[in-house]
Amino acid sequence: MSKSHILITGGAGFIGNNLALKLLSDGYKITILDNLSPQIHGHYPNVDGQVLLAQGVEFIRADVREPSAIKLALANADMIVHLAAETGTAQSMYQIAHYNEVNTQATALILDFLANNPHAVKKIVLASSRSIYGEGAYRCKTHGDVFPGARTAAQLKSHQWDPLCPSCASALTAIPTPESARPSPASIYAATKYAQEDLIRIAGDSLGIGTAVLRFQNVYGAGQSLNNPYTGILSIFSTRIRRSMSLPIFEDGLESRDFVHVSDIVQAIQLALESEAANGGTFNVGAGEPTSVLEIANMLVDAFGGKIRPEVTGQYRLGDIRHCYADLSQIRGKLGFAPKMSLKKGIEEFTSWVLSQPLPEDGLDKANEELKKRKMMS
Ligand SMILES: NC(=O)c1ccc[n+]([C@@H]2O[C@H](COP(=O)([O-])OP(=O)(O)OC[C@H]3O[C@@H](n4cnc5c(N)ncnc54)[C@H](O)[C@@H]3O)[C@@H](O)[C@H]2O)c1
Ligand SMILES: [Zn+2]
Repeated sequence: MSKSHILITGGAGFIGNNLALKLLSDGYKITILDNLSPQIHGHYPNVDGQVLLAQGVEFIRADVREPSAIKLALANADMIVHLAAETGTAQSMYQIAHYNEVNTQATALILDFLANNPHAVKKIVLASSRSIYGEGAYRCKTHGDVFPGARTAAQLKSHQWDPLCPSCASALTAIPTPESARPSPASIYAATKYAQEDLIRIAGDSLGIGTAVLRFQNVYGAGQSLNNPYTGILSIFSTRIRRSMSLPIFEDGLESRDFVHVSDIVQAIQLALESEAANGGTFNVGAGEPTSVLEIANMLVDAFGGKIRPEVTGQYRLGDIRHCYADLSQIRGKLGFAPKMSLKKGIEEFTSWVLSQPLPEDGLDKANEELKKRKMMS
């Protein structure tokens, strides 16, 4: 049987580029639909050396909100990996209509095309996000597993960083968040990702197309955007370390994230494409382990041989979560997924790639100023 032809929307981006290279080497044909958004690729995108020029790749430079581009991109595809999106959590809070258009409306347009035109698509894999959970899952000594929800502005103001038990207000321990956790998006970005999930699952069911929703934790690795000042704390920190600038860490630095290497994300997407068992499923994808932001910042400073240590500022952003890491039992059990890249090795690989790249301007101060102006950061 000949290999599938896969449309990757947003295929010129960080995850898409890594995914396309792997799928190409496994014999798949690839179409990429991507508008090379300047916020991500810079104003003069250089496609040399990128997967876009590789043999076996059809590259359509167009906006995913453009119905004629969707039609062209789906001409030969029998599977879709939908990655194209705006991904800045804080930015989404003041570019609400734009985020809704690129993330939600474009997804609706793709599904609309599938519902109303002949096509060969039999599978859609969606890149969703752990952000749809909002705050992660916790355990109370008395009340068992609890989902405390977003921290209030008053709580953050009094530097009560850790969520408390909703029933007895006692201290909690973070536990892995399962897919069954009640979604509670805390940003417009997260709300659009959750909307994408519903649109794809419901339309897929009614159209008889297999769907798989993958909720990624914090993805890092070679190829992530170093230009986008709104996403990727590893990128933002790396630029500051290379410029010998201070490294401000929010809250008390003990807030944690689940950092997963892009090669493991590629592994999960490929399993979801190739496995019947994925159909109709929603799966967490992460390393399954929490790492504090202070710890990752220190790892980066060490890996770059930087002189300036991270500095905990006690500042905070409204809507930030405290902890969330993936419960991987579903994807392990149903798809045989297992993360392979250790954080130590992944960070070494990431920093050596960063050093091979031009040194970007630092965008953090400007991005934070914007948030302060909008009273989203204190
Ligand atoms: N990187 C992460 O940590 C992470 C975590 C959770 C979920 N995700 C999801 O994974 C997907 C890919 O993320 P990424 O990290 O590779 O992001 P990225 O920003 O590197 O790539 C996104 C790509 O989409 C393209 N794009 C943006 N708007 C477009 C439009 N209107 N039309 C056509 N193309 C457009 C961009 O040019 C870019 O190449 C996104 O859907 C994101 O929400 C990423
Ligand atoms: Zn309790």
